[in-house]
Amino acid sequence: MKKQAILLAHFGTSHADTREKTIGAVEREVRAAFPEWEVRGAFTSGMILRILKKQGITLQSVPEALETLLAEGFERILIQPTHMICGEEYDKLRFQAEPFRDRFAEFSVGLPLLSSTEDMREVCRFYDKEFPREADEALVLMGHGTTHFANAVYPAMSYIFSEMGFERILVGAVEGYPDIEIVRKELGRLGVKKVTVTPMMLVAGDHAVNDMAGEEPDSWKSLLEADGYQVKPVVRGLGEYAAVRELYLSHIRQAMDAK
Ligand code: CO
Repeated sequence: MKKQAILLAHFGTSHADTREKTIGAVEREVRAAFPEWEVRGAFTSGMILRILKKQGITLQSVPEALETLLAEGFERILIQPTHMICGEEYDKLRFQAEPFRDRFAEFSVGLPLLSSTEDMREVCRFYDKEFPREADEALVLMGHGTTHFANAVYPAMSYIFSEMGFERILVGAVEGYPDIEIVRKELGRLGVKKVTVTPMMLVAGDHAVNDMAGEEPDSWKSLLEADGYQVKPVVRGLGEYAAVRELYLSHIRQAMDAK
């Protein structure tokens, strides 16, 4: 049998505790689900890799991990990104992976979490179920956001929530559209008293800890409290939820079947 490996490509995080609970959990689950495959991880963020190196932690980039797998004699490679959208990091991953395509006997790349309407529906169902809302309560999701056109996933998620009848769930993006000012206006229209905020990101890293739940006056929590809401931050990355990890497993199966 050919030596085969699944390479999980993560954006990465410098926060060790969330890394273990999210990225670590995804890797463990993939390992358990595909026992015939070697499972490795790599980070796509050069910035995160540099920060970790300063902390004495050396992790591989995608090209480094692929070179290692080649040197170890692996012939069949499946790269599964754990990114949220087909944005900049995914484009970069494809660009970095492409030169390796012909160097392996079999080579495929899976899709990020939110790559199709059905993916978005699944994640919407997950949030509705995981975060039941009282009548005077809204759920606000903090997506990352990007200047890449794939940012359109965030307003699309908003649309799907309302189309599916999942009420009082708003989507914002910390570095994209819709920003927190838009979310505040929408919350005002809803007339709720309580707001739960949680990240729509794989890890609960810097953005979740500081920009979402931090005590600084410009964090989402502080801004919403200033608007008079009772705010409950849930600092958990999506990788901590079994239902979300299951979606990544199904993306891996899809990439396998596409061969
Ligand atoms: Co950022």
